[in-house]
Amino acid sequence: MSKKIKKILLKKKRSKIVSLTAYSKNFAKILDRHCDIILVGDSMANVLYGMKNTHKITLNTIIQHSISVRKGINKSLLVVDMPKGSYRNPLQAKKNAKLIFEKTNCDAVKIESNNKNFKIIREITRAKIPVMGHIGFTPQFKKKFKVEGKNKREFKNLIKEAMLIEKAGAFSIVLECVTPNTAKIITNLLKIPTIGIGSSSYCDGQILVTDDILGLSGFYPKFVKKYVNLNTIIEKAVKKYSKEVKNKLFPKNKNFLYGK
Ligand code: KIV
Repeated sequence: MSKKIKKILLKKKRSKIVSLTAYSKNFAKILDRHCDIILVGDSMANVLYGMKNTHKITLNTIIQHSISVRKGINKSLLVVDMPKGSYRNPLQAKKNAKLIFEKTNCDAVKIESNNKNFKIIREITRAKIPVMGHIGFTPQFKKKFKVEGKNKREFKNLIKEAMLIEKAGAFSIVLECVTPNTAKIITNLLKIPTIGIGSSSYCDGQILVTDDILGLSGFYPKFVKKYVNLNTIIEKAVKKYSKEVKNKLFPKNKNFLYGK
């Protein structure tokens, strides 16, 4: 097990694990100073590429963004999402996880659970590639958004799923939009850390999509906190630039590369 993974495991019950998504080097560089985990999420499908869901983002696109993100990271754990269709069976999953690992130099891959992926997680971890699981609302497999674990059957199934993911060898697990009680029980039962998104503060850590907290994406459900409105700040700067170009105020002599 790598030192970086050990460090994440040791945080359980000691200090909260801070995680965010990044799709490019410049963002990753800033996040790296404040995060424990940086995820190249398949959420880039919606956030960057304007797709209606995450289903069509390709393995190659995720790899290219991860190569960029890697360049901005010094200390955080880099986790790369395996896109839908890239882990249909254990052999294909192992082949693609290895490809991601070799091309991006990441520390781990993340796999969404459909309650059947335990053998896949086992196969990848056997190949010495750390896996982060992901249960609850898993956008690759579920069409309609809903909070998971509200009734007894769902609650029991989520607990079982989380335990099987741990048993299969995952080093951590994302709990997306599960009830606070489900998050609490799973976090107490598992030895591996739980990372919550819309799943209460009972989790060992939190993850959000960076573009959401920066006010760039326009996606602000109740579980997202918008820490700044970058849209307005960027708009102001671009407006000023546009005005200065039109009024011949930019470039000035000092911006010339040669002469005058
Ligand atoms: O793709 C993603 O960004 C994710 C996080 C929201 C957990 O899976």
